[in-house]
Amino acid sequence: MVEERLFIVNWQEQQVLITGGTGSLGNALTAKLLRWGVPRIVIFSRDELKQSEMFDRFSDSRLRFFLGDVRDRVRLMRAFYGITTVIHAAALKRVEAAEYNPSEAVCTNVIGALNVADAAIDAGIERVMGVSTDKAVNPINLYGCTKALMERIFVHANSYAGKAVIRFACVRYGNVLGSRGSVVKAFLSQRHTGKIRVTDPSATRFFITIWQAVNFVLSSIEQMKGGEVFVPKPPSADVRTVAEVLASGCVWDLSGLGRGEKLDEVLISKDERYDDVGDRYIVCDSGKIRNIEFSSARARRLSAEDVLSMINEK
Ligand SMILES: NC(=O)c1ccc[n+]([C@@H]2O[C@H](COP(=O)([O-])OP(=O)(O)OC[C@H]3O[C@@H](n4cnc5c(N)ncnc54)[C@H](OP(=O)(O)O)[C@@H]3O)[C@@H](O)[C@H]2O)c1
Repeated sequence: MVEERLFIVNWQEQQVLITGGTGSLGNALTAKLLRWGVPRIVIFSRDELKQSEMFDRFSDSRLRFFLGDVRDRVRLMRAFYGITTVIHAAALKRVEAAEYNPSEAVCTNVIGALNVADAAIDAGIERVMGVSTDKAVNPINLYGCTKALMERIFVHANSYAGKAVIRFACVRYGNVLGSRGSVVKAFLSQRHTGKIRVTDPSATRFFITIWQAVNFVLSSIEQMKGGEVFVPKPPSADVRTVAEVLASGCVWDLSGLGRGEKLDEVLISKDERYDDVGDRYIVCDSGKIRNIEFSSARARRLSAEDVLSMINEK
């Protein structure tokens, strides 16, 4: 198995660019790729401070930093020079912020995805993997709509690539425990006050750890043929369990579900075509019509101990 994976993608020959590389996923991907011996990793993002902190944290000459905005196609073209694999993680991802700033979310998440696709084709990149979310499925908020569009842009980019040897695919997963802006971070930052804001204790969410996300992204890159949306099979937890684990004894300020928040999340809608390939599903046009939704209400439910051990996973 290992030999086959190395045959498909020899990471020691890849030049990898991560848009949004200073984010939670980008940092974890970088750590793993450096361990795997990737000779050059380019971090593409806007904020110089996050880049310089990351530079200090890794202190590795294989890591390069490129200030740029995915809204700027010319800048992407410049950054893509010599790159073989692009992981497109840059996004505005706060549901509420996207609701109130729709043009910003569209410019970054949709126009940005179009720019990445166009620049990647022009630059002769081999593989481009977009990072999507369960909120893109049956979207009820603007963030989800923009990520649904990103998925369609990447899936269809395979057909407008012409003769270029390039493959586009996406991964789609739920909440990453402990990532920036996650419910875990929110509960941890509020608990010292003795009061935490809880939307609806019965709401369920899919959860994966950051390392599971990293492994899923990289193994999907190894498997991609072009046009797939790779979906893991994560467990779910209800908000009550997460709140009890992280902030036991705190008073709950019950706010109810906010605008654009679902009671349960869905990773695959019943109308999507998909195949079951063991540890993951692949949503693709050639997949089977199953009429079965993959919802967090029906997924394997995490116990308090499970949530705790996932949070403590390093
Ligand atoms: N975290 C989750 O639970 C989760 C779940 C499912 C999917 N996802 C998806 O996974 C991806 C990575 O998430 P994350 O948790 O790592 O996010 P994050 O920590 O918020 O990082 C976002 C990154 O994007 C960069 N960025 C934002 N706007 C940009 C722009 N216009 N041009 C270039 N870079 C830009 C940010 O840096 P600057 O601000 O410096 O530009 C930062 O490096 C996102 O696409 C998100 O939608 C996340």
